Amino acid sequence: MQLYQLIYKSDASAALDIKLLNQFKRQIQESNYRKEVTGLLLFDGVHFLQVLEGRKTQLKRLYDAICNDPRHANVTLLLMEPIPAREFDQTSMQIVIRKAEDLTRIIDEVETLGELLRVGDGGETSSVILSNYYHMKEGLGRSPNIVKSFLEGGWETTNYSGMTQDEKQWIQLSCSKSELSQEYPYWFAFQPIVDTEKGVISAVEALLRGKEGQSPDELLNGLSETQMHKLDVESKRSAIAIFAEFGCDTTLSINLLPKSLISYPEIVGELRRLAESLSIEPSRITIEVTEQEAIENYDSFIDVVNQIRANGMRLAIDDFGAGYAGMSLLADFQPHKLKIDKKIVDGIASDGPRQAIVCAIMQFSFRLGIEVVAEGIETLQDLEWLKSVGVKHFQGYFFAKPGLMHIPQVNI
Ligand SMILES: Cc1cc2nc3c(=O)[nH]c(=O)nc-3n(C[C@H](O)[C@H](O)[C@H](O)COP(=O)(O)O)c2cc1C
Repeated sequence: MQLYQLIYKSDASAALDIKLLNQFKRQIQESNYRKEVTGLLLFDGVHFLQVLEGRKTQLKRLYDAICNDPRHANVTLLLMEPIPAREFDQTSMQIVIRKAEDLTRIIDEVETLGELLRVGDGGETSSVILSNYYHMKEGLGRSPNIVKSFLEGGWETTNYSGMTQDEKQWIQLSCSKSELSQEYPYWFAFQPIVDTEKGVISAVEALLRGKEGQSPDELLNGLSETQMHKLDVESKRSAIAIFAEFGCDTTLSINLLPKSLISYPEIVGELRRLAESLSIEPSRITIEVTEQEAIENYDSFIDVVNQIRANGMRLAIDDFGAGYAGMSLLADFQPHKLKIDKKIVDGIASDGPRQAIVCAIMQFSFRLGIEVVAEGIETLQDLEWLKSVGVKHFQGYFFAKPGLMHIPQVNI
C-alpha cells in the first residue's frame, strides 16, 4: 500500500468555537484512528497547520471534507506526495494547540523546536510529539521544515484582502472603435491589462489573429523561419497603427520574437518612428519577449534589449515561470515588466508552492523596481490572493477576453 503525506495550512474562522476545542481534538483523533490516518495538527490561535498521512484515496476524501469545513478558511495545500513510511508512526493524530501570544512568548524563551513543544503542550502528548520531531528530523521529507516555519510564525504575511464591490466599480473603459479608417494587412485581438489599484486599463496587449479570428499558430503554420520573422516584424506596424486609431491614452504591448529583432535590427527604430508619427510616445510601447526565446539567443538578445532601451521603449518578459531558467536571465538584466505565466497563477489561492514562488517574485521585483503583471486570471479567489501580496496589474478572462480589432469592455 503506497502511503501519502498531505500538508495544508488554513486560517481559523468565526465558526470555530474555541470552547469546544477539546471535543474537536477528540473527534479528529477518533475519526483518524478509524481511517488509519496519522499526523500532526498545530493551531496557534489563528492558523492551522496539519500533516496528514495515510492512503491516497483516504487523504483525498478527508482533505475534501476539511476544505468544506466552515470552521476554517483559506485552506492552502502545501504538499501532497508519496512517502516510504509514516513519519508519525503511532496510530493517531497529535494535536498541539497554543494561543498565538503564548507561542510567541515561548519561542523567545526556548532554543529548539523540541523544547518548544515540551513547554508548549505539557504532559504525555508533548513527549510523543517531541520524539516525533526528532524522528521527522532524521527523515527525508520536507514536513519538518514546513512545521518548523509554521511554529516560528512565518505565515502571518499572507493576509487576505478581499476585493469589495466598490473597488470593482471603478474600472472604466474609455476607448473602443468599431469602424477603422482603413483595411489593415494584419489583424489583432486586443486584451486589456488592468491596474486594480488605480482602477484603469494600464495596457492592452495586441495578439496576432487571422481575419476569421485564427490563432497565430494557424497563421504561421507552414511558413519558413525567414517568412515567419518577416511576418512577425511587419505585422507589428499594423498593431501600432490600429492601436493609434483607438485614440486611448493607455500603453500598448506587442510581442516580438528575439530572432525577428535580431534578423531585422532596424525594426525597433522604425516602430518608434511610426509610433511617434501617430502621436504615441515610445515609452507607451512595450515589447514582450518570452523567457525561453530570450535565453536561447542570449548574447544577441542583450544587444536587442539595449536597442529597445535606446529607442525609449519598454521591455517585458512574457510567460515568466513557464519552465525556463528565468532567474539567471534576471540576474543579468532587468526588464520593465515581468508577466507571470498562467501556469503559476492558476489556482494560486489554494496552492502553497505557487504562493511561495509568487512571494519570491514580488520580493525581487520590488527590490529591482520591476512591474509585475499576473497573466491568465480567471477567478476572484486567485485575484484576491495576488492582490494581498502586492500584485497590481492583471490580465485574463476574469477581466476581459481579447477583442478582435477592438478593445473589449472590462467586466466589473
Ligand atoms: C483544522 C481542521 C482539521 C481537521 N482535521 C480532521 C482530521 O484530521 N480528521 C477528520 O476526520 N476530520 C478533521 N476535521 C473535520 C473535517 O473537516 C470534517 O468535519 C470531518 O471529517 C467530517 O467527518 P464525518 O464525515 O466523518 O462526520 C478537521 C477540521 C478542521 C477545521
